[in-house]
Amino acid sequence: MEDQLKLNPNSVNGLSESSAPSYDNSDDEDTPVLSSHTLAALKEFLSEQQSHSDAGDSEVSLVSEDWRLSQFWYDSETAKTVAEEVLTLSNGVDSRVACIACPTLYAYLKKMDPYVSVQLLEYDKRFEQYGSDYTFYDYNHPEELPSELKHSYKVIVADPPYLSKECLEKVAETVSFLRQPGELFLLLLTGEVQKERAAEILDLHPCGFRPHHSSKLGNEFRLFSNYDPGTRLGGWEK
Ligand SMILES: C[S@@+](CC[C@H](N)C(=O)[O-])C[C@H]1O[C@@H](n2cnc3c(N)ncnc32)[C@H](O)[C@@H]1O
Repeated sequence: MEDQLKLNPNSVNGLSESSAPSYDNSDDEDTPVLSSHTLAALKEFLSEQQSHSDAGDSEVSLVSEDWRLSQFWYDSETAKTVAEEVLTLSNGVDSRVACIACPTLYAYLKKMDPYVSVQLLEYDKRFEQYGSDYTFYDYNHPEELPSELKHSYKVIVADPPYLSKECLEKVAETVSFLRQPGELFLLLLTGEVQKERAAEILDLHPCGFRPHHSSKLGNEFRLFSNYDPGTRLGGWEK
């Protein structure tokens, strides 16, 4: 089941005929009795309540990290914080979202808002499980992408696999390919060591919020943006 986006269900199946009031009340006329119809309705109600409370709180599990592909998944707080920001942006400008090499963010976005339109550009084909939301992407070929993605996004988030100038420049080419003319909200999650290059290549500056990963990394990570997030994301260090 590791290949599936999973919830941590707090099962509502504890309510069953055996734990619910008994149908057999022959010993006690006062024992409350639920018809199977009422019991089914009650289960459905509890199940709905549970799925509502799951929406904000549940963990999302992805496929296991493959370190040969430089895969380090965000911890849940990081993924939720960035997803909240992206949903705020995409609702504000009514735009589709492009996630470049950040599958955890894709999964949290869909979990937090199933109706949000997100495209995941990713090298790892295990994410084909996301159907038409998945596009194969190799940063070495920054514009080898379907034409329908061209100039289609006002909100773009990228987390490149490598901390090199070459990788960032190629990701920047992909951003140019994807972005709609005019207003763009761009977020980049990468190592602090890319700070100068992020400013030079993409005019990005760090936010106060510090991204963290499920596995402890040696590198300090930062979240960069091309816009002032105000009081969100711990402010902007420009
Ligand atoms: C540093 S991780 C970012 C993942 C992010 N922290 C998350 O939790 O979603 C880099 C991503 O780049 C992807 N990747 C690896 N090789 C790639 C390549 N040649 N082109 C594009 N993406 C690649 C990895 O599969 C991985 O998802």
